[in-house]
Amino acid sequence: MAILLSGRGSNMLALAQRCAQGDLEAKICFVASDKKDAYGIMMAKSLGLKTLLLPYEEGKEQAEKVLNEKLQSDSVDWIVLAGFMRMLSPTFVGKYEKRIVNIHPSLLPSFPGTQAIKDAFEYGVKVTGVTVHLVDEKMDHGPILSQREVRICDEDTLESLEEKIHAIEHDLYWQTLKNLFAGRFKMKGRRMTIEGPY
Ligand code: GAR
Repeated sequence: MAILLSGRGSNMLALAQRCAQGDLEAKICFVASDKKDAYGIMMAKSLGLKTLLLPYEEGKEQAEKVLNEKLQSDSVDWIVLAGFMRMLSPTFVGKYEKRIVNIHPSLLPSFPGTQAIKDAFEYGVKVTGVTVHLVDEKMDHGPILSQREVRICDEDTLESLEEKIHAIEHDLYWQTLKNLFAGRFKMKGRRMTIEGPY
């Protein structure tokens, strides 16, 4: 798999740890970012992972061309978005249909976007959570693979909610990818279901 990120990279780190422990049987071919100074890229380098800077300052087409070439040369099967705050073009998504996965810190379709935890907290919902889904051409949209709920208590602050959500993300993402990589998800109508023992 290739991991794409824009920020601090805690989900990338959690996945890298699960790969290293053998819980997730996958190889991280490279970690790519649109931001050269993303903390997640520094962390990936310190883990000895290959990194790639996507040149979005030269335009989306050029950035995706660079990404595409690297995906092809490394024979990557899966593209795993972990806090990647850019929309991939419909052409790119079409090329890698059902092979791009995203994690989002809300119960989609509620609160898509880049501020989902804050949006849910400020809205006053009592329950929010985490969603892992396949990526289509719309933002934070596509067939849902897994969701886990997080209750918002009266005592919660935005910071405590963020902590709870990230802890769930770090647990849910590798487990979902494990099932996905093993081919256990099947599409039934609009619903993705898991088949077989796991
Ligand atoms: C995560 O909470 C992830 O769900 C979110 O960005 C954060 C990245 O954190 N993604 C989105 O909001 C996608 N719309 P991390 O860099 O520490 O993994």
